[in-house]
Amino acid sequence: MKKILFVTSEAHPLIKTGGLADVAGSLPKALTELGQDVRLIIPYYQAVSLEQEPTFRSTIRVDNRDINILETRLPDTDVITWLVDYPELYGTPGNPYVDEQGEPWENIAERFAVFSRVAVEIAMNRANLDWKPDIVHCNDWQSGLVPALLSLEQDAPKSIFTIHNLAYQGLFPSTTYHELNLPGQLWNPAGLEFHEMLSFIKGGLVYSDRITTVSPTYAQEIQTPEFGYGLEGLLSHNHEKLSGIINGIDMEDWNPETDAAIYQQYNDTDLDKKQINKTELQKHSGLPVDPEISLFGLVSRLVEQKGIDLLVEILPEIVTTPIQLVLLGSGDSSLEHQLNGLSRLYPDKIAVTIGYNEKLAHQIEAGIDIFLMPSRFEPCGLNQMYSQRYGTIPLVRRTGGLADTVVDAMPDTLKDKSATGIVFDEPSTGALQESIKRSLLLYNDKKTWRNMQKTAMSKDFSWQNSAKQYLKLYESI
Ligand code: ADP
Ligand code: GLC
Repeated sequence: MKKILFVTSEAHPLIKTGGLADVAGSLPKALTELGQDVRLIIPYYQAVSLEQEPTFRSTIRVDNRDINILETRLPDTDVITWLVDYPELYGTPGNPYVDEQGEPWENIAERFAVFSRVAVEIAMNRANLDWKPDIVHCNDWQSGLVPALLSLEQDAPKSIFTIHNLAYQGLFPSTTYHELNLPGQLWNPAGLEFHEMLSFIKGGLVYSDRITTVSPTYAQEIQTPEFGYGLEGLLSHNHEKLSGIINGIDMEDWNPETDAAIYQQYNDTDLDKKQINKTELQKHSGLPVDPEISLFGLVSRLVEQKGIDLLVEILPEIVTTPIQLVLLGSGDSSLEHQLNGLSRLYPDKIAVTIGYNEKLAHQIEAGIDIFLMPSRFEPCGLNQMYSQRYGTIPLVRRTGGLADTVVDAMPDTLKDKSATGIVFDEPSTGALQESIKRSLLLYNDKKTWRNMQKTAMSKDFSWQNSAKQYLKLYESI
């Protein structure tokens, strides 16, 4: 049995802005089910939602601050979760990265530097918790300083750093380095320095014992200039400690047979019932109810990564074909604005909800026919897997985890019934438009479509396999 400290800036259902929360909410659970002793550590943001008051465990002094460690369980699991309670930094309204106005926290470096220092104290068993992990598993730049600081300790546990998204690196001016009182030994180009700036993510990449990312294809992609954001050299130099492990999904949260958020539960033997979800979704979105029309959907952070701009550009032309689109997302205000504008122009075709809405996300997965993910890059992506589980066909670009989890409908894969989606290559409006046309042809071939739905629904995207791969990795170090 391994003792694992899982360090994360978000975890579903406590707090979520994206896929990292889904992973941090389900991988520790899967590892616990494999008999491991996993503890989660996360800042106690004001927005954290708990079913019960957490219990007080200890107070530790870190960087001249007195910080409380509170304890709770990750809801519906046995996973012990430690909340880093320091209201001055985390007790403010907003999400982990931005304030109520959507502006990035001015003190974001300090927030996650302090969080990382607390994780190090726990990792070194100096937090009066009477527990020392064998492995510290860090995630994304917010915990990048942990492996770096552990490298200065004697008898430190081993560390793993998982890249969920290399586009976010935690880069700050060099002056921040001094403001954070970070140890001088780590400030050099082979350490935390990146072109004279402080890079949190480099702490994870340079000092951890192993680096993983969330799909095998993304593990290759980030070793190239196109996806490496200047870190491709460091990553390819370290390729021996780098591997890709595909994310799983929470098969209980995302199960059309038991999902309480959707209008009508169904499974692969009564797929006709999926229609009821479609009808209800059309009604509630203010779209004309039409069982025959192909209903596209999208649930996403509205950022450059997701290729939403490609879709925006072709929508005026696409709406001349028999389709409808339901979209849920938030992020870039100019994208939000453009999407709202399009839905006003074509109210019978496009329904847009700006915001974050977990329930609607489930209803969209259940109600639509085709889920769009035209991502420019996608380290793993979860919605293409949720879609397949709901008998919704994903239309995706061939990149990262999308390439690894969706089987394109081609003559051979349709024949051997392995096809589960529609995949296109170039990140261009032309290629996206072509693939939408292709999906309409397939959709009109009822028998083929039904076969694809059934294959998609029968795929095993559970955490079991991936959790075992992480366990192997822990054991190897
Ligand atoms: P990323 O982490 O890059 O945002 P993923 O596909 O890994 O992409 O995960 C996104 C997760 O966040 C999914 O669970 C998706 O359903 C959810 N999500 C994204 N935007 C919204 C939204 N506006 N409302 C509800 N859920 C959302
Ligand atoms: C990131 C990536 C996404 C991935 C998620 C969880 O947010 O953008 O592709 O699925 O992390 O690993």
